[in-house]
Amino acid sequence: MNDPILIPYCDFHEDWALVAAGNMDDHNAMTVSWGGIGCLWNKPVATVYVRPNRHTYGYFEKNEYFTVSFYPGEYRKALGLMGTKSGRDCDKEAEAGLTAIPFGESVTFAQAGKTLLCRKLYHQDMELDRFPEDVKARFFGSEPAHRMYIGEIIEIL
Ligand SMILES: Cc1cc2nc3c(=O)[nH]c(=O)nc-3n(C[C@H](O)[C@H](O)[C@H](O)COP(=O)(O)O)c2cc1C
Repeated sequence: MNDPILIPYCDFHEDWALVAAGNMDDHNAMTVSWGGIGCLWNKPVATVYVRPNRHTYGYFEKNEYFTVSFYPGEYRKALGLMGTKSGRDCDKEAEAGLTAIPFGESVTFAQAGKTLLCRKLYHQDMELDRFPEDVKARFFGSEPAHRMYIGEIIEIL
């Protein structure tokens, strides 16, 4: 039996992260700063929130696995670019200077300091009418609410 995964400390808010899904031939990644690491059903899990209008969303829907990767400070600009351009319109990975590498049945980037490989366990669409009013006003003008994905962390690179 493999060693159990120790739940890692990750600071989404301060450090940001890339979430990616797909394979080496066809994948997409984007920046996130909302998310968490924890425990669900006695499993170590990562939770991320992806709006359905992101190009990355389709890849999350099509694939059983996704990765969450964290980067040294020097890649802040690259993460900024991955979070403002869409893979629908350009090769943003190349523009950001990131190199995709395989990780399990998914992908991450060679520049990552840490990557969590996750298998989708659960997802749910967040409901706007359950949001606090100030959150709704600040973050949800005309954009759709996020789909929450909870993935079991099965390997850490
Ligand atoms: C710092 C930062 C944090 C972000 N966090 C999220 C997030 O948690 N969820 C989300 O859906 N989009 C988030 N975004 C927006 C996406 O990264 C952005 O829309 C991206 O261009 C989508 O790329 P895609 O269309 O290639 O998927 C964030 C952007 C930035 C710059």
